[in-house]
Amino acid sequence: MAKITASVYTSHVPAIGAALDLGKTQEPYWQPVFQGYDFSKQWMKDNKPDVIFLVYNDHATAFSLDFIPTFAIGTAAEFQPADEGWGPRPVPKVIGHPELASHIAQSVIQQDFDLTIVNKMDVDHGLTVPLSLMCGQPEAWPCPVIPFAVNVVQYPVPSGQRCFNLGQAIRKAVESFDADLNVQIWGTGGMSHQLQGPRAGLINPEFDNAFLDKLIADPRAAAAIPHIDYVREAGSEGIELVMWLIARGAMADVAGGPAPKLAHRFYHVPASNTAVGHVILENQQA
Ligand code: DHB
Ligand code: FE
Repeated sequence: MAKITASVYTSHVPAIGAALDLGKTQEPYWQPVFQGYDFSKQWMKDNKPDVIFLVYNDHATAFSLDFIPTFAIGTAAEFQPADEGWGPRPVPKVIGHPELASHIAQSVIQQDFDLTIVNKMDVDHGLTVPLSLMCGQPEAWPCPVIPFAVNVVQYPVPSGQRCFNLGQAIRKAVESFDADLNVQIWGTGGMSHQLQGPRAGLINPEFDNAFLDKLIADPRAAAAIPHIDYVREAGSEGIELVMWLIARGAMADVAGGPAPKLAHRFYHVPASNTAVGHVILENQQA
């Protein structure tokens, strides 16, 4: 059977993608950001998954105010990097896994979560920047990726608790897929940032680090944070952090298994307008 071996959490700042694509990673501003991912790139090589289930948010690229799915699963065979206004990033296309994605859709919808099934969409920095941070600049991404888009842009957004519960349903879905696949689940976006209004530029390291502590050691407490607290404490775009709870909810300890191993934790301020946070958790054998 397929199983979830690890979860990865990382911010998705678009300027990080631009710094990579323009060869600026060693500049003094960017070097400390990318240094936080040196461990992770080696870890990816040492722990190569068969499939990545990548929870991210679209930024009015594939979707728009015309239609706003709360949870959308990409079931296509491939996904092109989107043109976000400066041309598509020069990164490989994303190869999907239609069989596993369809199975997860079937299982999770039957567990009472209403997913939108998306057979055609482009993927923006929300998905490509985490891949770049974790995998560098390869000719092709190391494995198929199932894009899972969450609406954290247009209110009302899903609560952290619902995201956490959804993660548990995704774990059950993966574990009932009849193939020996090593699946990683990634939760992306965050950490604190606000891009508009009088509080534009808000960053809150105390909130972010308390969130990381809870995410790692007490995920139920992290899941109980009401959405208004993210907005107040972590800024209007800090709400992206609820996506991390989908990945965390899919880990074995939440279903009564052993606590995960913390393989890596990193935090840096600032990158563009955003606090960058990054964690890797490995499931342990029961
Ligand atoms: C920035 C961060 C984001 O999450 C985003 O989607 C766009 C811009 C920023 O920090 O500039
Ligand atoms: Fe964003």
